[in-house]
Amino acid sequence: MLDLDALILGSYLEEATAWTAELAPAPASIIDVGAGSGAGTLALARRFPAAKVTALDRSPGMLAQTLASAEAAGVAARVATLEADLNEAWPASASADLMWASSSLHELADPERTMAEMFAALNPGGLLMVVEMDSLPSFLPESLPGGGAIEPGLEARLHKALAGSGWNQYPEWTAGLERAGFAVERRHFPTEGSATPELAARYARTFLRRMASALAGTAAPADLASLEVLLGDGPDSLERRADLVVRGHRTAWAARKP
Ligand SMILES: C[S@@+](CC[C@H](N)C(=O)[O-])C[C@H]1O[C@@H](n2cnc3c(N)ncnc32)[C@H](O)[C@@H]1O
Repeated sequence: MLDLDALILGSYLEEATAWTAELAPAPASIIDVGAGSGAGTLALARRFPAAKVTALDRSPGMLAQTLASAEAAGVAARVATLEADLNEAWPASASADLMWASSSLHELADPERTMAEMFAALNPGGLLMVVEMDSLPSFLPESLPGGGAIEPGLEARLHKALAGSGWNQYPEWTAGLERAGFAVERRHFPTEGSATPELAARYARTFLRRMASALAGTAAPADLASLEVLLGDGPDSLERRADLVVRGHRTAWAARKP
């Protein structure tokens, strides 16, 4: 799912790394904190061709995937991995000019402690970029006619139900970053994905299937039934609709260590 997201909604990576390069033009060392399957690691390696990029994650599987993607992209010589569980502590040897934490800070047990640890581990004048999805990806057109198999407003209601069960929940990070010592600026990156209908349907199916199992028994029965229609193989199924539009919104916080 992370790879599909980067493939379809990845233009935010272009925009957010371009902003990063305005603020930190020539970092020699970069750490991608909670790198996942490496979409950010690769975007950073491309944006900063002289930098060494370390992908940090607690998941060896994710790190292996990042290395494989770095090989395929021809940047493996500048990409290293570091397996570490930040819920225990920031790894003592890890310092950098630039840190990038995309959709990872909110997964940590004590993000404020980790922010303070990152502040200490950044080189003087260094930059931490924090990125979060400020809305979950959506796929249906913004206005759907009433009376069809899918009731208008379905995704907004489902996202609200997921937020109630803690999905992608994070605080506005500015105050926490400032308490850690950073000077903070923030920008929004609304993105409409460019995808073939097949790719859009694949991402939608992967995401909506996860959503359906997370919401089983908690969302309104009519909404769960609509999800089943989308995930089924009838005329309103994802693969047979011609109206899917992948949208996602991200916020980035640029946090400077004075
Ligand atoms: C939602 S993924 C985001 C991946 C990637 N940064 C992106 O934007 O696509 C969050 C990542 O943070 C990692 N993570 C979560 N908790 C962690 C921890 N305590 N220490 C290190 N990594 C952690 C997960 O293994 C996962 O790869």
